[in-house]
Amino acid sequence: MAALRSVHVTGWGAYTPSLVLTNADLERMVDTSDEWIVTRTGIRERRIASPTDTTASMAAVAGLRAIATAGLDVHDIDLIIVGTLTPDYPLPSAAVLVKEAIGNAHAAAMDLAAACSGFAYGYGMAHAYLASGLARHALVIGSETMSRCTDWTDRGTCVLFGDGAGAVVLSASDEPGGAMGIELNTETAATYSIWIPAGGAARPANEASVAAREHYMRMKGQETFKLAVRKLASTSLMAVEKAGITLEDIDLAVPHQANVRILEALAKSVHFPPERLFVNIDRYGNTSAASVPIALTEAVAAGRIKPGDRILLAAFGAGGTSGAIVLKWTADPANRLRAEGIGPERVTLLDSGLEPINPFPPALEWMLAEPGHSAAAQTPATAR
Ligand code: UT7
Repeated sequence: MAALRSVHVTGWGAYTPSLVLTNADLERMVDTSDEWIVTRTGIRERRIASPTDTTASMAAVAGLRAIATAGLDVHDIDLIIVGTLTPDYPLPSAAVLVKEAIGNAHAAAMDLAAACSGFAYGYGMAHAYLASGLARHALVIGSETMSRCTDWTDRGTCVLFGDGAGAVVLSASDEPGGAMGIELNTETAATYSIWIPAGGAARPANEASVAAREHYMRMKGQETFKLAVRKLASTSLMAVEKAGITLEDIDLAVPHQANVRILEALAKSVHFPPERLFVNIDRYGNTSAASVPIALTEAVAAGRIKPGDRILLAAFGAGGTSGAIVLKWTADPANRLRAEGIGPERVTLLDSGLEPINPFPPALEWMLAEPGHSAAAQTPATAR
């Protein structure tokens, strides 16, 4: 067996839809307030996928941006992993649609189901694949259309989530740097803390399940909060230990953005300086598997990451999944400029042949009629 190769982040990119749902908008839909949402979660607004955005289409745009940033051709990608809990269809995988949409010739493509930890798990799997010499370049994506599985009458969950996609290209290399320590684990005690009861093989969707709203996500908030803090801390510490360094050596932590209070509690529990935690939850809410790569892309654009920095990526999600990666950044942050000009118009998903339906949540239909909900006038994080 050949020696393990190092695996670097060579490309990165994100795509967030332009429709913006604010806390003031939610005040008109459920019994909540901007004050409650901001103080309990840190969220001010979140993005909502348009009727034509899907998990696969957003993933493809983020993926194309990451490939361009890496300076690669789409055919250079040998493996495509999409971490998602909201694939376009139960079958085929979103990754297959992404592969077709970006026009890649020979990559193996698959989805990875680890909820909000899906990107971190995908990173770990791709790392192992590349380090062992099985391939040279992998595209790892986190993409979610959470708005399609959100119960817009449940104030306990509907204020939290948002849509979007983020991606990295990982490349095998003989140069030093890249991932130094990876830890993935799963705590089964949280199996039903966040779940979607119906639509799988155990409870196929039927009229009764739809009437009972079992096709929407359910969450035990407080239970999840405590476990998230504990697991983000222990998993991060394990990854840092595997890297042979300590938390003090981390220049920037880019954690899953679920609740700013979770991040504050995390920093406190492991004595990590909060100013070295990257936070963008105020603008996107919890985008599940997409949150870490969107945050990473924004952190690079904001000048928070430079070559030589030691970065910690950390995620926690449904099913008690958690993952952390410690890596030494080696790419030139200016490479992000190579992705300029790549937008959703570059992506067309393969036609299924079925009559199209509008997947937009009926509870949000008013957003499409009211002007002023688009972030197009703002600087899109996606173009960075
Ligand atoms: O991606 C990983 C998975 N997700 C998470 O990590 C989320 C983890 N959990 C959380 O972030 C927090 O538990 C929540 C933000 C979901 C809830 O915050 P909390 O401080 O744990 O609130 P709570 O559930 O203890 O509820 C406190 C009160 C309740 O009212 P009563 O019973 O005290 O009268 C809730 O009914 O707040 C009420 N409440 C709300 N009030 C206004 C719950 N949601 C809302 C709301 N607006 N949106």
